[in-house]
Amino acid sequence: MAHGASALGSAAAPEEIAFDKPVRRGEPILEVRDLVKHFPLTKGVVFKKQVGAVKAVDGISFDLVQGETLGIVGESGCGKSTLAKVLMNLEPASAGSVRFKGEEISHLSGAGLKAVRRNIQMVFQDPYTSLNPRMTVGDIIGEPYEIHPEVAPKGDRAKAVRDLLDVVGLNPEYINRYPHQFSGGQRQRIGIARGLALKPEIIICDEPVSALDVSVQAQVINLLEQLQTEFNLSYMFIAHDLSIVRHISDRVGVMYLGKMVEIGTDLEIYDHATHPYTQALLSAVPVPDPTAREDRDRIVLTGDVPSPANPPSGCRFRTRCWKAQERCATEVPLLATPSWLGGLAKHESACHFAAEREIEQSAAERERGQSAAERERGQSAAERERGQSATERESGQSAAERGTGLPPAPGPGADGPAAGGSSSGTPGPQGPPDAPGAPGAGGTPEAGSGPGDGKTGLTPPD
Ligand SMILES: Nc1ncnc2c1ncn2[C@@H]1O[C@H](COP(=O)(O)OP(=O)(O)OP(=O)(O)O)[C@@H](O)[C@H]1O
Ligand code: SF4
Ligand SMILES: [Mg+2]
Repeated sequence: MAHGASALGSAAAPEEIAFDKPVRRGEPILEVRDLVKHFPLTKGVVFKKQVGAVKAVDGISFDLVQGETLGIVGESGCGKSTLAKVLMNLEPASAGSVRFKGEEISHLSGAGLKAVRRNIQMVFQDPYTSLNPRMTVGDIIGEPYEIHPEVAPKGDRAKAVRDLLDVVGLNPEYINRYPHQFSGGQRQRIGIARGLALKPEIIICDEPVSALDVSVQAQVINLLEQLQTEFNLSYMFIAHDLSIVRHISDRVGVMYLGKMVEIGTDLEIYDHATHPYTQALLSAVPVPDPTAREDRDRIVLTGDVPSPANPPSGCRFRTRCWKAQERCATEVPLLATPSWLGGLAKHESACHFAAEREIEQSAAERERGQSAAERERGQSAAERERGQSATERESGQSAAERGTGLPPAPGPGADGPAAGGSSSGTPGPQGPPDAPGAPGAGGTPEAGSGPGDGKTGLTPPD
């Protein structure tokens, strides 16, 4: 899967690329390697001189697997939209390689670029400004067919547009209406229908629901999920809302100041994050349960996000990292799987001291855990007693009479609350992380049943 770091400036692009190679589910459909996008900073009005560069995307590598949703999260300004634009070739890459179905696409222009654009579509954040107010919905959705007549329906184009409206849950009779006659959620559906018109294989969604009400967000997310199954789509889903990203994503990548700092499955990232930045981000996710909110251990980052024009040496997060050491200022941590971690903590993380976060159990949690254990112990004793007398009644003879003695008392259940892990608190090598500690990773049965847990539903914001 590895290939040359930079394909920019290589031999001239072929005029036309068909991109008809089938990619099986689970194989990479998009391979991104060492991707860089720097925006030059210039000085002077007439004679412009470059005095620096905004390093919006600075050496990012990842795969998008066919049929998956890869969520991308990170603070404002970390380069998420720039990454999306470079992948779409809306902005030229400064360096690095992007392969779609094995073909290098970062240097394409003309017919080759047009073919890529047909296969990789984008859904934008703002449904209020991304649709031309002077065009009817029919024209907006049908416009891609003007640009790509090769995929336009052979017969009635209006029928194809009506079908697309139907697919995204809008009344096909609305075909002659204008965008201002629709609500925000309906407009986003129009944007999605337009994105689907050319039957793309990848859709990059840049904050597709940020501008919408919570209830409408859920509808649009559900629609995206349904379309993914129906049309076998691969998504890259950029968002600020970590609960939504968890809900929709199979894997999640975390960005900080132009770099990917951690990437893994939703469970690996949300319940077993090993990068301090991810741990800080997750500790700030709104929790709907007031008791859980009181108990949780929040990491408050100090200091501002450094300028992408002048990022810190070594690890870019070091100026805000509470675990930073001398080595962090001189050595750039590579995105790699730390050998000293095990279980779900074993995923790619760009930290010299990657470690699962030990969450200190609050007094309230300890108390809850203790009383649950007591309840269980009490129950077990009573059950044993009940079980014994029932047996005696049934057989008409006591255990003593049988001479077998009482059955051995069952110990505390393996999944009981007494399974709390120990904590060393020191960064560095550690054993397989089978000890619970991350929120939602086992513990009491009640712990995993609330809204926003796993993929059970969306969490309303605070
Ligand atoms: N055309 C441009 N020229 C110069 N700098 C740019 C340009 N586009 C983006 N940037 C800079 O690149 C950095 C990354 O911007 P980008 O829009 O990709 O961030 P983002 O992660 O999408 O933020 P948000 O979450 O707010 O949408 C920012 O510092 C931004 O100012
Ligand atoms: S490499 Fe150092 S500064 Fe960077 S996240 Fe890890 S501990 Fe913090
Ligand atoms: Mg953005």
